[in-house]
Amino acid sequence: MRAMVMAAPGLENLRIEERPDPRPGPGQVLVRLRAASLNFRDVLALRGGYGSRQKQAGLVPLSDGAGEVLEVGSGVTRFKAGDRVVNTFFPGWLAGPPAEAFLEEDVGGLHDGVACEMRLFSQEGLLPIPAGMDFLQAATLPCAAVTAWNAVRAHGGVGPEHVVLTQGSGGVAIFALQFAKAAGARAIAISSSDDKLARLAALGADDGINYRSDAEWGKTARKRTQGRGVDLVVETAGAATLKQSMRAVSLGGMIAVIGMVGGPVAEVQLPLVAMGSLRLHGIAVGSRRHLQEVLQACAQHRIEPVIDRVFPLAELPEAIGHVASGQQFGKVCIEIG
Ligand SMILES: NC(=O)c1ccc[n+]([C@@H]2O[C@H](COP(=O)([O-])OP(=O)(O)OC[C@H]3O[C@@H](n4cnc5c(N)ncnc54)[C@H](OP(=O)(O)O)[C@@H]3O)[C@@H](O)[C@H]2O)c1
Repeated sequence: MRAMVMAAPGLENLRIEERPDPRPGPGQVLVRLRAASLNFRDVLALRGGYGSRQKQAGLVPLSDGAGEVLEVGSGVTRFKAGDRVVNTFFPGWLAGPPAEAFLEEDVGGLHDGVACEMRLFSQEGLLPIPAGMDFLQAATLPCAAVTAWNAVRAHGGVGPEHVVLTQGSGGVAIFALQFAKAAGARAIAISSSDDKLARLAALGADDGINYRSDAEWGKTARKRTQGRGVDLVVETAGAATLKQSMRAVSLGGMIAVIGMVGGPVAEVQLPLVAMGSLRLHGIAVGSRRHLQEVLQACAQHRIEPVIDRVFPLAELPEAIGHVASGQQFGKVCIEIG
C-alpha cells in the first residue's frame, strides 16, 4: 500500500512510500481509506511544530479519515467487512472529560495518521458513516467539526437566546457557525475579506465584520448586540484576536480558546477577565461521543460540510500549502484513490 511519509520535518521531506499491507490483530479493524481532510494542525506538524508532542521522523500525517472496512481481527464486534467508517481524533477518548492518557493516543501527531491507503484502527476508534454522507464529507468531521461542537454545544450550551461570534472561514469556524445556527442562535462572523463574509452570510451568519478594515471589531460586535456583547466567542485566531474577543464578549460570557492561526502567545488583560466574569475555556478537540453527536446533528439539520478543494494524495504538499495560505473557505480534502 502507498503511504505519504514525512522523513523529517519540512514539506520537502514528504514522499509517497510503499509499505506492506497491514493485517488486523485482536480488536483491530483494517480500513481502506478513501478520503482525508486537512487541519491547520497539519501545517504545524509538518514543520515539526509540536516538538516532543509529535513524531518527528517517519510520520504519516493527517488525523481525519474515512473509508471502508476491509477485514476485522478476532474479538471485533462493532464492525464487519464492507462497513463505511470515520475515525475519531483521540481513539481512546470515548466520552466524558479528557484525561492525559486519552490525549497521548492521537492520530497523525504522536502516532501515524491517515495519509495512506490502509490503516489499522482499534474498533473503539471508529464510527459508522450514516447513509447519505459520502467519504469526503465524513472525513471533514473528526477534528474541526468535533472541536466546534465541543465549543458551541457541549461546553457553550448554545441555544436560541444566544449570540455566537466566529473567526474567519476555516474548518472550525464554519462548523461553529453551522452548529450555532442549527441551535437557533444569532451568529456574527468576522473575516479578512468582504467576499468571504458574503459567503458566510449565505451559510447563515446574521452579521459580518471585516477584521482587516475594522481593527476594533470587538467593539463593533458589542455595538451590534446593543452593548450587551456576545455570549460565546469561538476563538480560533489566538494572539491576533484575543484582545478584541474580550471586548466583544458579554458579562459572564465564554471565550472558547481553540486555535492560534494568529499566533500562540497572547497578552491577557486580567482586570477585563475578572470584572467581566469571563470564562476562558480551553477546548481539546473532543470525544467519540461528540463525533457521534456531530453525525446526528448533520443528519437532523441537513448540515453539509463546506469543502473548499480536493487534492489527490500525491499532492498533499500542495494541499498543505493551500491551507497555510489562509485562502480556503471551509475544508481542504484529500481523495485517496
Ligand atoms: N484546540 C483544538 O482542539 C483545536 C482543534 C482544531 C483546530 N484548532 C486550531 O484552531 C485554529 C483553526 O483551525 P482550522 O483547521 O479551522 O484552520 P483553517 O481551516 O486553516 O482556517 C484558517 C482561517 O483562519 C482565519 N484567520 C486567519 N487569521 C485570522 C485572524 N487574524 N483573525 C481571524 N481569523 C483569522 C482565515 O479566515 P478568513 O480569511 O476568513 O479571515 C483562515 O482561512 C488553528 O490554530 C488550529 O490549530 C484547535
